[in-house]
Amino acid sequence: MKEIAFLLNGAPVRLENPPPLRTLLDWLRDERGLKGTKEGCNEGDCGACTVMVTDARGTHALNACILFLPQLDGKAVRTVEGLAGPDGALHPVQRAMVDHHGSQCGFCTPGFVVAMAVNHLNGEADHDTALAGNLCRCTGYAPIARAAAAAAAEPVPDWLRRATDPAGIRPQLSREDPIAATEDGAAHAFMPRSADALADWYAAHPEATLVAGATDVGLWVTKQLREPAPVAFIAGIGELRGVSVTEDEIRIGAVTTLAELMPAIAPLHPDLAELIRRFGSAQVRAAATIGGNIANGSPIGDAPPALIALGAALHLRRGGARRSIPLEDFFLDYGHQDRAPGEFVEAVSFPRQPDRLRCYKVSKRFDQDISALCGCFSVTVRDGVVAGARIAFGGMAGIPKRAHAVEAALTGRPWIEATIEAALPAFAGDFQPIDDMRASAGYRLRAAQNLLRRYFLEDRGVPTDVLEVAP
Ligand SMILES: Cc1cc2nc3c(=O)[nH]c(=O)nc-3n(C[C@H](O)[C@H](O)[C@H](O)COP(=O)(O)OP(=O)(O)OC[C@H]3O[C@@H](n4cnc5c(N)ncnc54)[C@H](O)[C@@H]3O)c2cc1C
Ligand code: FES
Ligand code: FES
Repeated sequence: MKEIAFLLNGAPVRLENPPPLRTLLDWLRDERGLKGTKEGCNEGDCGACTVMVTDARGTHALNACILFLPQLDGKAVRTVEGLAGPDGALHPVQRAMVDHHGSQCGFCTPGFVVAMAVNHLNGEADHDTALAGNLCRCTGYAPIARAAAAAAAEPVPDWLRRATDPAGIRPQLSREDPIAATEDGAAHAFMPRSADALADWYAAHPEATLVAGATDVGLWVTKQLREPAPVAFIAGIGELRGVSVTEDEIRIGAVTTLAELMPAIAPLHPDLAELIRRFGSAQVRAAATIGGNIANGSPIGDAPPALIALGAALHLRRGGARRSIPLEDFFLDYGHQDRAPGEFVEAVSFPRQPDRLRCYKVSKRFDQDISALCGCFSVTVRDGVVAGARIAFGGMAGIPKRAHAVEAALTGRPWIEATIEAALPAFAGDFQPIDDMRASAGYRLRAAQNLLRRYFLEDRGVPTDVLEVAP
């Protein structure tokens, strides 16, 4: 990578050979003196570092603390310093925060107002969900939510509407293809523009680290102080992005973000969309990719259990060679996946099917929390008898894992409560969960069993959602 270019608060910036793992947050504060963007957690959790990023696909709130400089190439970044109009007029969300007393110590406020301005621009009305990635320790959320609701009645300032028009960004960078897809000897980072280019480079550099959304890799750098090299930034590969739905199949490209997947999957499998809503925060979902969630191999990744329950296949590529495997076979052991050096995830796909999927994420907080366990169920019933069952869990083993014994205990039996109760002991055959700070082994096992009961009861139309139970 020889040079990257992006707009910062409307002004073009060109950086020659930028350190590939320098975060935007550090660069803004240390190199540009833009200290409105705060460092709270430095791991994507608090939203104090939220910036507004516009690319060809629209405008998103992203966490600058886990955003590497090369990820900005060809995009427009706006920080809190760039939110007021050219005449100095406050943005409607800033004015509303003043009017509704939405700020006390003020540390979280820049991150909040940037996230609010993105939501305001995009016409987002669900302020609770959209601001779940911004933490405030002292004001309390009610005044902030009131400010967001009040600002929604105000129009988007014209100047901001123009500045966030994706069509206007590239001309200002005065480069047809803003990305130099060349390898740099010193920094040793690569930004391929095609899957073929990635395949060739990765086959030649199998020791490299791929960076998609950087919501996992970012923490390796900021928290574990690792310096992976060489790296390839792959989120710009258009061929690997998108959700295609045919009569037979749903295919999700590896660099499709969770934010992109959510609306695409909602009409087909609404519970998967709801699970994604509880995946990190808006800032995380706008960066995190499905391929990264799978390839990272975490036992508590939320997408794999849902995809396994849907019967997903994983599509891998190494150089010119492609193979597809059942997703559940990808996860071999804790931290160990069936992926050869130089091999990458191209896509994940699963058959079109009647929607029988239910996903239950159990975590200490409703919003923005990692699963203690996540159970996903798809049970097919014909003439009152279980014709097939696919059940998978995260958080119950060292890998996302299918509940084969439970499935066997259900299949071929009548879909009645007695069958459910008789199947419960099979959980102990499938899973020997661990004790950790998120949950004890006993809690996990009991909760998993109860999720099967819940699936059955929901199927019978019994209300089970604790958030919907009225006192
Ligand atoms: C605040 C916060 C909250 C989070 N909440 C959740 C949550 O609720 N649920 C959850 O499951 N996860 C959560 N995560 C984890 C993370 O967001 C996900 O795992 C995410 O999907 C990773 O995608 P990414 O594109 O950011 O991956 P990256 O960080 O870019 O990469 C992750 C790993 O995958 C590899 N990789 C990426 N793409 C490919 C590819 N195409 N082929 C091969 N290897 C590849 C990378 O080399 C790396 O090893 C959270 C993270 C943060 C910071
Ligand atoms: S500093 Fe907390 S999310 Fe970035
Ligand atoms: S105003 Fe103090 S942390 Fe939010």
